[in-house]
Amino acid sequence: MSDLVKEIEKRRTFAIISHPDAGKTTLTEKFLLYGGAINLAGSVKGKATARHAVSDWMEIEKERGISVTSSVLQFHYDGYCINILDTPGHQDFSEDTYRTLMAADSAVMVIDASKGVEAQTRKLFKVCVMRHIPIFTFINKMDRDANDTFELLDDIEKELGIATCPINWPIGSGKGFKGVYDRNTKRVMTFADTLKGTKEGTEKEIAIDDPALVDEIGEDQRQTLLDEIELLDGASAEFDMELVSKGELSPVFFGSALTNFGVETFLQHFLQMTSSPLPRMSDQGVIDPFSPDFSAFVFKIQANMNKAHRDRIAFMRICSGEFDAGMEVFHVQGNKAMKLSQPQQLMAQERKIVDKAYAGDIIGVFDPGIFSIGDTIVSGKNRFAFEGIPTFAPEHFARVRQVDTMKRKQFMKGISQIAQEGAIQIFQEYNTGMEEIIVGVVGVLQFDVLKYRLNNEYNVEIRMENLPYEHIRWIENEDIDLDKISGTSDMKKIKDLKGRPLLLFVNSWSVGMTLDRNEGLILSEFGRS
Ligand code: G4P
Repeated sequence: MSDLVKEIEKRRTFAIISHPDAGKTTLTEKFLLYGGAINLAGSVKGKATARHAVSDWMEIEKERGISVTSSVLQFHYDGYCINILDTPGHQDFSEDTYRTLMAADSAVMVIDASKGVEAQTRKLFKVCVMRHIPIFTFINKMDRDANDTFELLDDIEKELGIATCPINWPIGSGKGFKGVYDRNTKRVMTFADTLKGTKEGTEKEIAIDDPALVDEIGEDQRQTLLDEIELLDGASAEFDMELVSKGELSPVFFGSALTNFGVETFLQHFLQMTSSPLPRMSDQGVIDPFSPDFSAFVFKIQANMNKAHRDRIAFMRICSGEFDAGMEVFHVQGNKAMKLSQPQQLMAQERKIVDKAYAGDIIGVFDPGIFSIGDTIVSGKNRFAFEGIPTFAPEHFARVRQVDTMKRKQFMKGISQIAQEGAIQIFQEYNTGMEEIIVGVVGVLQFDVLKYRLNNEYNVEIRMENLPYEHIRWIENEDIDLDKISGTSDMKKIKDLKGRPLLLFVNSWSVGMTLDRNEGLILSEFGRS
């Protein structure tokens, strides 16, 4: 096997999704710990330090007023080279978060056992489904009182519309949490909440039919477990690797990231059940990741990495071949040969310059303002473009104008550049003759970021008027006469800067009404950039 194939085969690139506070950061830290990437020195305090290190990248951005990021961490474990794409939650939530999922080959969904499926998970999950990537569920915080296990699974199936297959099964929760039962090996792993956060947790393994199990978990819980297993074997979906690969069946694991229980088992199963970097679609067909020619696409652009220079970093996902720092590449959309300057990677907590990277890896390169989201970079003679990255539906809209009318040019330049980075989407009124710009964002914080950045970087003060719309739909029909669409009273017709028509709605039911009233109309929640 060539070195290239070996390198690519050992790569796994996945995103972690969750609702804030479900335990994503904690789980990520534990993964890094197994990879030996960070040393938590066996103390709870160490965890805070580690967290600080991991999120440093974000902190820097926050200080600068751009608090949207998805960091990428690389570490090695058991012969694998793992790239974790972190997706920020809370108000930091933005289109970036969605786009990060475009760069991943699979996703890990962390769910708080006492809360079940929450809003943010639902949103991100939709993107995973659209991409048909494998989704693994880690039900976290079993050391706290949890919802009924069957109900939790039911919740995932109903809320997210995906079948689930528990790989292990919890024995109690909260103070009564005794461990998990592995359905494959038919063994129980007992839980001991002693060495919080350290790698050397104490876990005991014992066969389900071993009489000594009673001593470990007690007769009541043993009986409950046996009953539940029986019920489960009869009711749950069979494990089917093909369905997992297509994102139709989610393997479910139970554990407690904080106490480091079930994390390594999860990681091991996950690595076995996922594949090396997946082929990607281009305008010239499928691109094989093992092809020796380098190719990548830009999925994120981060401005102001260094405020003094106002530089931008373009993050790209390598889709095939090998990247070499000195190599000449071709930027397809810019129709230009170039070298990628200052390529860097985030290894656990530090940023470093990379010499070599492979399909599956994410690199950040200095961007003098030439890249747009979705751009393709290739090294071979074959100049193809990867499929565009969808534009995700903003949920908040505002009419924006510059205070000083003389500054129209700067205003348009600033707002267009920020839109090019993908932080906001901009639209215009349809047929009203008004020049006003309507800004759409996925997370409200982006409005503040926009205001701050226009002021700071472009010296333009703006006024914003919030609009009541919450739902946007791209019109998929090629030849539609927008004037003829009869909508509801809360509907507004707008266009994007390329002149493509869109509809805004206040209520979600109006979307359905409009579809009913206009036969053949095709509306989509995702646009193409
Ligand atoms: P997030 O990235 O998904 O937002 O969640 P994060 O890991 O920051 O975890 C949120 C809170 O939940 C943290 O507590 C964390 O310690 C706790 N937590 C994570 N996993 C588990 C678990 O398995 N069991 C229990 N009991 N708690 C867990 P915090 O008090 O907000 O932060 P900290 O003061 O501990 O840092």
